[in-house]
Amino acid sequence: MTIAYLNGDFLPLDQACVPVMDRGFLFGDGIYEVIPVYGGKLFRLTHHLKRLQNSLDAVRIANPLDADAWEAILTELVERNPGSDQAVYLQVTRGVAPRRDHAFPEETRPTVFAMSSPSAEPVNITAIQGITAITLPDIRWQHCNIKAITLLPNVLLRQQAIDAGSAEAILLKDGYAIEGAASNVFIVNNGILTTPPNGPALLPGITRDLILELADANAVLFREGSISEADLRQADEIWLSSSTREISPVTKLDDQPVGSGQPGPVWQTMIGLFQEYKERVRRGQAC
Ligand code: PDD
Repeated sequence: MTIAYLNGDFLPLDQACVPVMDRGFLFGDGIYEVIPVYGGKLFRLTHHLKRLQNSLDAVRIANPLDADAWEAILTELVERNPGSDQAVYLQVTRGVAPRRDHAFPEETRPTVFAMSSPSAEPVNITAIQGITAITLPDIRWQHCNIKAITLLPNVLLRQQAIDAGSAEAILLKDGYAIEGAASNVFIVNNGILTTPPNGPALLPGITRDLILELADANAVLFREGSISEADLRQADEIWLSSSTREISPVTKLDDQPVGSGQPGPVWQTMIGLFQEYKERVRRGQAC
């Protein structure tokens, strides 16, 4: 039985209920995080809690919990759910209001919800054949750095990719690749790894930042810089990163093979480093 956390209580997920007057339900007025768990350990928790704080500040919701309280709740949630590899989802909304009004209600208590599900099977590096992606125009708003639960454009974009037989959409804006519908984008050209710089156009991915840290520590050449549509289409390698999908090589873009059409050598290096890092987290030697 999946156990969830809602406003101070742990309870079976199917018994967790939120009033329909919750601003999250009526307006999508809230923010969220997705945190992977390896070997029972919350991966990069400090980074996720920092991004949570930034998102809350940006939408003017006071953080209802301090970092220690978040850690205690999420740790207990993980312990109460089966399996040592999980994916924690947490959401904070502006709370339940007395009436529907776009303006903030005067006094509301934020709604805090969290759940955890078993994560997919560990990545088998050799079995990965890569995924296919399509490009689509970025139809989202101008504050994509906020991890808002208001995800209708992302949902429509991802579904458009699925309908086209692809796993993900890579979003193009003003001639540049920005990120995926629910992932960050990287390319490798002439051995150099490139990902767009953080800013309002994209989510500052926790997996993205770890990839750059690992690149830096292991002499993988990298830069944070714009990726033009031409660079994307000529890339030797394209990767997409997220907490739930780790680092996926894209081997086909808009029906054209990417590079050799196989996961590339720089990806092989990076996924190895990433798996090593995860093992260190499991052993409590990294976080
Ligand atoms: N999404 N960009 C977008 C738009 C995302 O939704 C995500 C993650 C990322 C990658 O961020 P991170 O490495 O911190 O997971 C980038 C999560 C997994 C989701 O919505 O389920």
